[in-house]
This record gives sequence, structure tokens and C-alpha cells, in this order.
Amino acid sequence: MPRYAHIIGWGKSVPPNILTNADLAKKVDTTDEWIRERTGIQQRHIASSKETTALLALHAARDAVEVADVNPQDIDLVIVATATPEYPFPATACLVQNALGAERAGAFDLEAGCSGFVYALATATALIRSEMYNTVLVVGAETLSRILDWSDRATCVLFGDGAGAVLLRGSDQPGGVLSTILGSDGSGGELLMVPGGGSKHPAGPDTVLSKQHFVKMNGREVYRFATRVMAQASRQAVDKAGWQLEQIDLFLPHQANVRIIDSAAKSLKIPPDKVFVNLERYGNTSAASIPIALCEALDAGKIKTGNNLVMVGFGAGLTWASCAIKWTAAQPGAPAPQRAAASRLRYIWSGIKSFGFQLSRHIDAAVSKTLDVIERKPSDE
Ligand code: ACO
Repeated sequence: MPRYAHIIGWGKSVPPNILTNADLAKKVDTTDEWIRERTGIQQRHIASSKETTALLALHAARDAVEVADVNPQDIDLVIVATATPEYPFPATACLVQNALGAERAGAFDLEAGCSGFVYALATATALIRSEMYNTVLVVGAETLSRILDWSDRATCVLFGDGAGAVLLRGSDQPGGVLSTILGSDGSGGELLMVPGGGSKHPAGPDTVLSKQHFVKMNGREVYRFATRVMAQASRQAVDKAGWQLEQIDLFLPHQANVRIIDSAAKSLKIPPDKVFVNLERYGNTSAASIPIALCEALDAGKIKTGNNLVMVGFGAGLTWASCAIKWTAAQPGAPAPQRAAASRLRYIWSGIKSFGFQLSRHIDAAVSKTLDVIERKPSDE
């Protein structure tokens, strides 16, 4: 019996602070008109210093778990797709796993630029279909604002911060993620990169002074690449699912530039009412853009049980990824107050337990050190 990977929960989290085009025009040589015309973006959400990638990811993940009404202890794996992790290591996914109280789960980060969420969704689907795991949490979370050069008008106007998450579960019932396509062309790696802070150019005063920790992009070339792969990858996912393009009920593309989205939709002959766009309010939130769009499309009642969805992303790497999904979840009602209270208690308890583990590790280390000193004393004398 084949297994299918169904999305059973979803959630998003965006920082409340909004930066409008007009605000940006006060910082760099740009105008609201230029940004709207060339990208479609009107504003973006920017994280405060306390709103980190892991925190946004955790809030989105909690909502997804809540919608699915699943105990975090039932989660087998946490994957966080991000290009702006909390630290080089440990993985942001481990921080989310711990704070969520998903004690049985493995956890890792996945880096595929803005294609990261669909890459992670494909990975989760394969693990569920192979019966290695049954319940997998996939999060796309970013704080791109932390790696932008706020004096570079060609990049700083494009991006925003946020997170989106889905919870997937295996079932024999046909539906869910039916096909996935992953692609990469590393020859275009230099078109979109953060050159500093890795093995090639480790962080140091010179990398900081030469702004190597910021996003560098050849916008025109990335644009050309994106318009080509968005339509191509979507077609491939639709073919692989055994659908015709006309059967797509909702197209959920990566939200980078409305002109790129329009060009892909036109090439695929998808009418505007079947294309979901929310980049005017968020900008490009990289790996978070598709799950945030999914949540908003659900909230807006644009997705019904049985609908055919296509997601497609492109980004640094260069990478691209698409998938076809037969939507099977029903919109949940408002959570019962007892359930919400139980969840809150569960998270508080996980926090206390995690703190307890850390404390016991410190005490253990201190006791071991003291015993070592005592044991060594006679031979020293
Ligand atoms: N305000 C005003 N003028 C600007 C700005 C700005 N913010 N940015 C660039 N310009 C100027 C340029 O300097 C240029 O001036 P010039 O002709 O005197 O040299 C002019 O506007 C036109 O520049 P182009 O780069 O040709 O503008 P284009 O129409 O290509 O739009 C854009 C630029 C929006 C960046 C577009 O190329 C694009 O969207 N590319 C794709 C970027 C993308 O999606 N990246 C994310 C990938 S996902 C990931 O993994 C992170």
C-alpha cells in the first residue's frame, strides 16, 4: 500500500514592525514608485533584535502543531529551511525541537536559498513515503534583514522577515504531496551569495570591513533565471502528478517579484484569480515566503478540500523546486479554550524540563570536576 504525505497543520509568524517603501526612501536613493513598479512590494516586516529566526520558526511551528491538534511528542522529525539560521551551529531546527517539546524528534536545517521550503517539503514527503517517519514538521524561517546591506538599494528594498510551517503526516489515503521536483545549477552560485563567514572567507575584521557578510546579487541575471525555471519546474511537477495545467486550482509561487510571478503564470496560462500573491505586504521572505502564502490563502478561503495546488520556488544556489499537492485538510474550527490552555502548559513544562536538563548537565560537570580534584590530591602530595 503506498503511503501519502498529507499537510495536516500550518502556521505563520511575522514580526509586527513594518518598514514601508517611503521609510526606505529616507535611508537610500530609491522611491516608492520604483519599488512598486519593478517589484510589486509596498512594505516588509522587519524583526527586532529579540525576534530571531528560531523564535519566528517556533511561533509558526506551534501554530501548525495547534491546527493539526498533534502532541509534539508524536513528531518524528523537524526540518528548518533557512539561509539565516540562529547560529552556524547548532541547527535552528534543534532549538525549535527543544522549545516545542518534540522530545522524540530528530532535527536538522536545510539550506537551499528561497527554494528551501519546497526542498524541505520534498525531503519530508520522501521520508514519510518510505515509512521511515510518519509525522514531520517543516518550517521555512528567515531574518534576511540581518544580512542586508542597508546602503545597497539594489537588495535592501527586496527582502523581509518571517516564518511559516506545515506539519505532515503519513496516511494510506491518496492525496497530499503528489510530486516534487528539485533542481540546482551551481554555476550560477555567484549571482546571489553571502561571500563572507564561511570556510572560504572566515569572519574577520577584513570581511566585515569589505561588507562580505551581506547579500550580493546580480538582480538582472537572477530575474532571467527565475522567469525561466518557475514555469519549467511547475510544468514538471504537474506532469509528474498526472495533472493538466488547467487542473491547477491555486498557484503558490515564491514571492520575490510580481513581474516574475506574472511571467510564470502567463507562460503556464494560469488566470490571475488562481495565482496567490502577497509580496506587496511582506517582500521576499526567502524560505518563509511559500508557507506564509499558504497560510494566508487558507485564511482567505482560497483553498478548499480536494483542490490542486502547485508551489514553486527559486533562489540562491542557484536552486529551484516545485511540488503538486492535492489538498486534503479541512479548516479547523477555533481551538477549544481547554486545548489552548493545555498546549500553553505543555510548552511551559517543556521549557522547565529543558532548563532542568541544562542545570543537571552543569551540576554534573561541576561535581565531576570536584571529584577529579579530590581524587588527584593524594598523588600530588
Ligand atoms: N531604487 C531605484 N533605482 C534602483 C533601485 C532602487 N531600489 N535598485 C536598482 N535601481 C536602478 C539601477 O541602479 C539601475 O539603474 P541604471 O540603469 O542607471 O544602472 C536601474 O534601477 C535598473 O536596474 P535593473 O537591475 O535593470 O532593474 P530591474 O528592472 O532588473 O529590477 C530587480 C531589479 C527588482 C532586483 C530585479 O532584477 C529582480 O527582481 N531580480 C530578481 C531578484 C530576486 O528575486 N532575488 C531573490 C532570489 S531568492 C533567494 O534565494 C534570496
